[in-house]
Amino acid sequence: MTTVTDSEVLRDALGLLRDREEVAERLLASSAKHSFDPDKELDWDAPFEDGKWFWPPELLSLYDTPMWRRMSEDQRLELSRHEAASLGSLGIWFEIILMQLLVRHIYDKPVTSNHVRYALTEIADECRHSMMFARVIKKGGSPTYPVPRLYHNLARVLKTVSTTPGSFAATLLGEEILDWMQRLTFPDERVQSLMRGVTRIHVVEEARHVRYAREELRRQMVRA
Ligand SMILES: [Fe+2]
Ligand SMILES: [Fe+2]
Repeated sequence: MTTVTDSEVLRDALGLLRDREEVAERLLASSAKHSFDPDKELDWDAPFEDGKWFWPPELLSLYDTPMWRRMSEDQRLELSRHEAASLGSLGIWFEIILMQLLVRHIYDKPVTSNHVRYALTEIADECRHSMMFARVIKKGGSPTYPVPRLYHNLARVLKTVSTTPGSFAATLLGEEILDWMQRLTFPDERVQSLMRGVTRIHVVEEARHVRYAREELRRQMVRA
């Protein structure tokens, strides 16, 4: 039977911290190499292309329903424009919550650590993403689609009181679902070039966020 001494507990804790710094260092190096300024990276002046989707049809809510079969091609394309704007609105909402959770996560941590520096880098990524989504919604000319008031207010509570494991678990859930759809969107040649560009940038930068959240959640679970 083994007994855990204080020095072993301390060694484990130091190991976790070192691991945390190493992960953050790798993510910072990757951020330095593969980060994008959507305002410069994408061609915002190009008009939308006729007959192209704003989101892959198979991912639309009505796809292959009786109603879908009665819709004209133009109506289906129009639906894709609105659903892309709806997902963009959801993305902005989600990212704003995440930014606050990250700010809270680092509030008590050493400001010169890689871990904090990476969190700030991720917040900067999310700022650019949210501005990019807003710009693409505006260019598409549809309204924004805010989440229902109840969810909006529940999230107000969550982002204020959530503890770290809860925050990172929520991050993973939200980011991975959107990520799955975006991975189907950016390679799809039937989709508008601008939408493909937006989703490509987002997929590349979100891969790091998922990694950061997954590793932090793992460390928190070891200690729990
Ligand atoms: Fe993002
Ligand atoms: Fe993210």
